[in-house]
Amino acid sequence: MDVNCGELREAHIGNDVTLHGWCRYIRDHGGKLFIDIADKHGITQLVFEGAAKSDAEKLGREYMVEVKGVVNKRSDETTNQKMPTGGIEVAVKSLKLLNKSKIPPFELIEEKEKFLANEELRLEYRYLDLRRPSALKRIVFRDKIVKSIRKYFWENEFMELETPVLVRDTYETGSRTFLVPSRSNKKTFYSLAQSPQFYKQMCMVAGIEKYFQVVKCFRDEDAREDRQPEFTQVDLEVAFKDEAYIEGLIEEMMVRVFKEALGKRLKTPFDHLTYAEAMENYGSDKPDLRYANKLVDITSEAKKSSYNILKRVAENNGKVKAIAFSGAKYDQKKGEISEAYMLKIIELAKSLGLKGLTWLYVKNKSMMSEPMSISESLKGVEKELLRKLSPKDGDVIIIGADLSERLLLDVMGKLRKEISQKIGAFDSDYRFVWIDNFPLFEADEVTHKLKPSHNPVTAPTDATLKLLDSDPERVIGKQYDLSLNGEEIAGGSIRISDPELQRKVFKIMGMEDVAERTFGFMFKALSYGTPPHGGIAIGLDRLVALLWGESNIRDFVLFPKNKRFDLLIDGSPSEINPKRLKDDFGIAFIE
Ligand code: AMO
Repeated sequence: MDVNCGELREAHIGNDVTLHGWCRYIRDHGGKLFIDIADKHGITQLVFEGAAKSDAEKLGREYMVEVKGVVNKRSDETTNQKMPTGGIEVAVKSLKLLNKSKIPPFELIEEKEKFLANEELRLEYRYLDLRRPSALKRIVFRDKIVKSIRKYFWENEFMELETPVLVRDTYETGSRTFLVPSRSNKKTFYSLAQSPQFYKQMCMVAGIEKYFQVVKCFRDEDAREDRQPEFTQVDLEVAFKDEAYIEGLIEEMMVRVFKEALGKRLKTPFDHLTYAEAMENYGSDKPDLRYANKLVDITSEAKKSSYNILKRVAENNGKVKAIAFSGAKYDQKKGEISEAYMLKIIELAKSLGLKGLTWLYVKNKSMMSEPMSISESLKGVEKELLRKLSPKDGDVIIIGADLSERLLLDVMGKLRKEISQKIGAFDSDYRFVWIDNFPLFEADEVTHKLKPSHNPVTAPTDATLKLLDSDPERVIGKQYDLSLNGEEIAGGSIRISDPELQRKVFKIMGMEDVAERTFGFMFKALSYGTPPHGGIAIGLDRLVALLWGESNIRDFVLFPKNKRFDLLIDGSPSEINPKRLKDDFGIAFIE
């Protein structure tokens, strides 16, 4: 009988079996040669004796073999309780070498994983890296989640469709596009789609009503551990539905994924915060709600205090924010949260753009500082601060002040995450939160020109539509983002379905000419009785990594690009011969 390398048990003793696999671990004990043979299912111990042994002596690590033999019980001394196949071994009668292997550049034995090779080497030989059980497990987990998501949408009568990847270069706000030269139309280009956004909207124009797709998207962004230049979205769009329907749909999908992939019950509905609440309380539009501590505005107290650094900012229309970290257990010398650690936090605050940071700790229900002059200058407002922050003994308080509220919130949000992580005060494994009521536009920090805060196709809320001409920065979009444990995992919106309103939105951003040139095809499509519609896209790579409990997405991508976005398995991107560029694509480099 044909069996895989993970399946034999004591019930199979006496059976004749055929196995295929790689020779992972070879030990020659004189009279007997032992080889652990491996495939994706597991490992089985083979024993070679006599003539079989002399054949097996020619084998090397990762040679691919076929063996036929009989299943025997292992002796008590050689039984391995930790291995599912540890009670048996296969005495080999015949051996067939299917393929030789070069010596692998790193260790593939699971027990030796603490000596894991560096990532660059593993990515260059990712096909070997994936032979390691713990690397493969992450990809199997991804597959499980994708299957669960697909089944969910099929059952909910969504059509799974494919939108084009080679598309028109359009106006994009966030990241750059990858350009692809066309050979048949010299000097023209396709863009690799950053997302199926416009094409899924056209599905709605076409009357599809419920569309979904597990789709590759391409963005030339700055590298980060939660980004890949090609990544996968679970993308969907529906007609005649509102925000609540789409949010409910995603929550039910998550319930299903949690049950099928993690065996966990997920509670719904998820929390909701408006963008303003998220920024005000957590200094982030993707707050990590596993940490309880919040940002507290203490501008009025700072104004009344005699602590000049804070007072001056408050008096000049700046903002002052504080966070009390409960459970910090401050200890000047020995604690996790010590004076040395807080000095590091000040450096971090400075590197993020603040001029400085004040920190205090609580002892005998009073605020103390190193040096004491800080807490002394806050004495006059201590009672009010203690009431607002309600800290306990041992808690640490940080206070930041800046004339730019945006910068202050952003930095305090990052410090909140950093210090909370250090304290390790989680309240649960997974915390989802919807963020809504985003402003439709935001002013570019450099040019001060308005740009979409998310997506130029997002519809304004009915209540703020009238402000579009008079006060565009106060217009709120029908936008909803979903974050999980402080990472943005999905974003979507109800769309503009009226081409005139869409034109107007571009006009407000001073982009009517660009829009007409690059987006004209969408104005055209929208002008044929478009149904009201909306959708969302989930970042699949991020979702899978977070559910596994990690934030680096590379281990959850089959063949990931490295930190510089190089694909090491094939050495791309690679140079192209200038002659070929010219002859085939009509492109010549100008040095
Ligand atoms: P958005 O740009 O927010 O929305 O993307 C949706 C989700 O995709 C994930 N994501 C990424 N994951 C890995 N690497 C990247 N480079 C990367 N960029 C984004 C994030 C993000 O939340 N068309 C809209 C969706 C819509 O409105 O329906 C869109 O693309 O988890």
